[in-house]
Amino acid sequence: MQSDNKPSYDTPFEWIGGEDKVKALVERFYDLMDLEPQYAALRASHGTELARARENLFWFLCGWLGGPQHYTDRFGHPRLRARHMPFRIGVIERDQWLACMDQAMGEVGVPEELRVRLRDSFFQTADWMRNTHG
Ligand code: HEM
Repeated sequence: MQSDNKPSYDTPFEWIGGEDKVKALVERFYDLMDLEPQYAALRASHGTELARARENLFWFLCGWLGGPQHYTDRFGHPRLRARHMPFRIGVIERDQWLACMDQAMGEVGVPEELRVRLRDSFFQTADWMRNTHG
């Protein structure tokens, strides 16, 4: 019997529901980015095609959540900040990325306790990616 409220999953990857759920999350994230006017600045920092971004973010998040290291197996160390340097990332883009991801987490049914934790982790990563003022 569990003696406290700690979730009984070894990793956030298991907790979220494995690859199928990570895939659904990434698909919804980019669909929303494409559809919702409140994410227009974020969408504008991307190219016309989102297919490669969908695939790469899916691979990345699997490993980032403690699951299979699809991204690093293919590309080595993610060097995320360096990889984002060509794109303008200020407070507006950061906040739109976080809001879009949070909406996607809600819509695909990420468990609330995990969602709260991921919100915090995503903030740390997204904030560190800022490469311009404003
Ligand atoms: C803070 C605001 C962010 C902006 C504006 C942004 C923007 C972008 C853009 C424009 C791309 C290129 C997509 C393409 O190849 O067409 C990209 C790729 C990517 N982003 Fe972000 N991003 C942000 C935050 C994040 C965060 C927080 C993460 C991870 C938690 C992340 C993970 C990735 C990954 C893994 C890729 C694929 C990199 C590659 O291998 O080419 N991004 N992002």
